[in-house]
Amino acid sequence: MKSGNATLSGYGTTIFEAMSVLAREHAAVNLGQGFPDDRGPELLRREAAAYVVDGHNQYPPMMGTPALRQAVAAHDRRFYGLEVDWQTEVLVTSGATEALMDCFLGLLEAGDEVVLIEPAYDTYAPVIRRLGAIPRPVRLVPPAWQLPREEVEAAFSTRTKLLVLNSPMNPTGKVFTREELAFLASLLERYDALAVCDEVYEHLVFGEARHVPLMTLPGMRERTARIGSAGKTFSLTGWKVGYITAPAALLRPITKAHQFVTFTTPPNLQHAVAAGLGQGDGYFAGLGAPLARSRDRLAAGLAALGVPALPCEGTYFLVLDVGRWQREGEDDLAFCKRLVVEGGVVLIPMSAFYDASPPRNLVRACFCKLDSTIDEALRRLGAAVQRGGGDSVER
Ligand SMILES: Cc1ncc(COP(=O)(O)O)c(C=O)c1O
Repeated sequence: MKSGNATLSGYGTTIFEAMSVLAREHAAVNLGQGFPDDRGPELLRREAAAYVVDGHNQYPPMMGTPALRQAVAAHDRRFYGLEVDWQTEVLVTSGATEALMDCFLGLLEAGDEVVLIEPAYDTYAPVIRRLGAIPRPVRLVPPAWQLPREEVEAAFSTRTKLLVLNSPMNPTGKVFTREELAFLASLLERYDALAVCDEVYEHLVFGEARHVPLMTLPGMRERTARIGSAGKTFSLTGWKVGYITAPAALLRPITKAHQFVTFTTPPNLQHAVAAGLGQGDGYFAGLGAPLARSRDRLAAGLAALGVPALPCEGTYFLVLDVGRWQREGEDDLAFCKRLVVEGGVVLIPMSAFYDASPPRNLVRACFCKLDSTIDEALRRLGAAVQRGGGDSVER
C-alpha cells in the first residue's frame, strides 16, 4: 500500500485533541484545550437559531455575507482606525484555522522562508512545511517572554516571505508592545516581507496592556493580513467563524485558496456574528475583567501550592513552571499524562509549541473557566500534592 503524505504523517494528533480525549477517559478537569465554560452571548445564539429556522440555509456569497463583511470593516475602523473596503479587503472563513491555511496557501511558494515566533500555535509549522516552505523559528525568552532582537534579525533574509505574528499570544499571554511591533515592522520593510497576524485574542487583554494590530503601524497596511475569530471574541469556539482583513492585492490569492478549501461558511453563524460585532463598546470592553479575575484565581491557588505562573497580559492561558512537581527525568508531556491519571487535571505541555529542544518544565493552563471548575482543579492538585510519595505529583 502506498502511504499518506510524509510531512503530515510525521506529526501526531494535535495535543489539544489528545489531552481532551484523555480528560474524558479519566473524568479529569480540563484546563487543557482553550474553550470557555461560558455559553456565549444569548443574542448571538438566538440570532443563529432563528436564521436557520427562517430558512436561510443555502450557500452564502463566497467572500462572506455582506452584513458580516461590513461588520468586520466597521469593527476595524471602530477599534483601530483602519479604513477597510468591505467588498475587496474582508474575507470570512470557517474559523481562524481556515484563515491561516488560506493565507499560507495563497501567499507561499515552495522554498519561501517564514519567520515564526516560538512558542508558536501548533497549526503554523506543519502547514508551512507541507507547502514546501521553510519555518524559521525564533524563541521568546521566558519568564518575561522577551523578544530576542538579534536573533529575530538573524532569522530574516531576502528569502523571507512572511512573518507570522500572534498577539495577544497563545500560549504565553504576551501582548506585543508598540516598540516590539515597530522593530518587526522595520524588518518587514527592510526585507520586503509580508505579515500574517493571528489576532484571535484581540479583545482578551488585561490591565494596562493594549492590543495594537501590526497593520496599524506606518508602512504595514499594505503588507499585512489580520485574522480575527468569533470563537474567541464571543466565547463560541465551536462555531468556527473567522475573518481576514487584508489589502485587496494580498486578499485576492488568499481568496483563491478559500474558494478551494471551504468556499463558504454557514450563513446563520455569519448572520449572528455580524450582530455580535455590531454590539456597543461595552460588550468588548467587558471581556477582559472577568478573565483577568479567573487568571488571578488560578494563579493564586497555584502559588499557594508552590507553583509559579509566568506573567500573562491576555488570552485564555497561563504558563506554569511545574519543575518542582516533575519526577527525575520526566519531561512536560510525561508529566501532563501522569497528572491526568494521578491528579485528575489536564494541562498542556509547552513542548507542543516548539519545533525542537523545548523547555521541559513549562505547561499551559487554561483559565477561561467557571470559578467552580478552577477551584475543583486546585482542590485535586492540592490533594495530589498532599498524598505524597510515589502517588504524588510532587517529587
Ligand atoms: C493563536 C490561535 N490561532 C488560531 C486559533 C484557531 O481559531 P478558530 O477556532 O477560530 O479556528 C486558535 C484557537 O485556539 C488560537 O489559539
